[in-house]
Amino acid sequence: MTQENNFPKTFMWGVGHAAFQVEGHTEPSDWKRWTHTDGKIADASNADQATDFWNRYKEDFALAKELGANTFRMSIAWERVEVQAGVWNVEALEHYKKMILSCIDHGLEPVVTLHHFVLPEWIADKGGICSDEFEVEFADYAEKVVSFMSQEGPLVKWWMTFNEPQVLTNFGYITGGWPPGEKDLSRFMLANRNLVRAHVSAVKRIRTLNLKDLKISIAQHWRDFQPKSRLNPTHKAAALLLHQVFNRNFVIACQTGINTWWMPGSKFYAEKLDVDGGTLDYLGINYYGRLMVKTMMKDPFVEIEEGIGEKTDLGWEICPASLTNVLRQAWSFRLPILVSENGLADRSDSKRAKFIEDHVAALGQALVQGVNVLGYLHWSLTDNFEWAEGLEPRFGLVEMDYEKLIRTPRPSFYAYQALIQKLQNS
Ligand code: FCB
Repeated sequence: MTQENNFPKTFMWGVGHAAFQVEGHTEPSDWKRWTHTDGKIADASNADQATDFWNRYKEDFALAKELGANTFRMSIAWERVEVQAGVWNVEALEHYKKMILSCIDHGLEPVVTLHHFVLPEWIADKGGICSDEFEVEFADYAEKVVSFMSQEGPLVKWWMTFNEPQVLTNFGYITGGWPPGEKDLSRFMLANRNLVRAHVSAVKRIRTLNLKDLKISIAQHWRDFQPKSRLNPTHKAAALLLHQVFNRNFVIACQTGINTWWMPGSKFYAEKLDVDGGTLDYLGINYYGRLMVKTMMKDPFVEIEEGIGEKTDLGWEICPASLTNVLRQAWSFRLPILVSENGLADRSDSKRAKFIEDHVAALGQALVQGVNVLGYLHWSLTDNFEWAEGLEPRFGLVEMDYEKLIRTPRPSFYAYQALIQKLQNS
């Protein structure tokens, strides 16, 4: 790293993961069913055990502490705490409270996501996100969890309602690769609209709890969409369209209440919600790279491909420079930004250390350019269950032996540790 150190002393250094991907002992949910349906998971694995974080969380918090992190992002499994509409599993809520207390005891500020892709089966069976009841169901759940975790004063300051709404709706309703496995553009639009409504309602409910100093956001998957050919107007228009619909639209809706969804070939949705001056206190950005956009004439509406740079084990291009672009783009909302995910599948750990160093440097560039970035959370502390790809991709700074549940830090763990130390102390 050559540029001056612009990382404030208060910078949030950390790691993140999500309940279904690590906890094990899963309860009935759309994803549990999906992982037990033939042909849905690339390596035919499931998340029934995962890393057993549910029982071994102290071990992982200790590792994060050893890493030098001061922040840990995790999520709550809705299906564990609300087993039927309005039926709460208080034991599960207590368990999460213990987990969060342990996180804090290890010197780690918790960032807690309420919904990270997984729906309780009873909601999925009623139509999931597309159901008319979803908005109220989610708001009930959000209010319950936040109030429970604040009974003795707020334990958690940093909340997130939804993780990557457009990734969820894209795989759930366009490609059909994730539950509910549909391929229907107008359902995609409806799902997006309902997620905005659910976010807005949840934030309003949480705000009525009058808890001091609480910060609520979403984690938005934000890509640097570039035209495959800068000379081709169709490519340029398609890249702009994706930037608008995939990156910006949800955030605009949360902040202005203008909940409008449209794509070529889909029904037009438009409504104005009352958002009381905005429903995001900060903005979580999950960054995984750029994408080259080719056309919007092809079914379903766009063709995208990876750029020509070096690739991760999953074939995703490694593109640190685009992180600076993305942060500058996201800063147009003038909300403090938390990089809530950034990482790579790299089983041999031959690319991870440089990946982190280069992405942190790109983030540093954004700081120099005046973007208010609060922190960087690497995905992920340990290897975990990577959705439709299964257990095969290795995203961890710490290697998991899934048979023995042994955790072994990879060399990149120590590289990230050294980087944190250097940037915190210089
Ligand atoms: C993100 C997801 C996260 C993880 C990483 C690799 O899109 O939010 O759960 O799967 O990708």
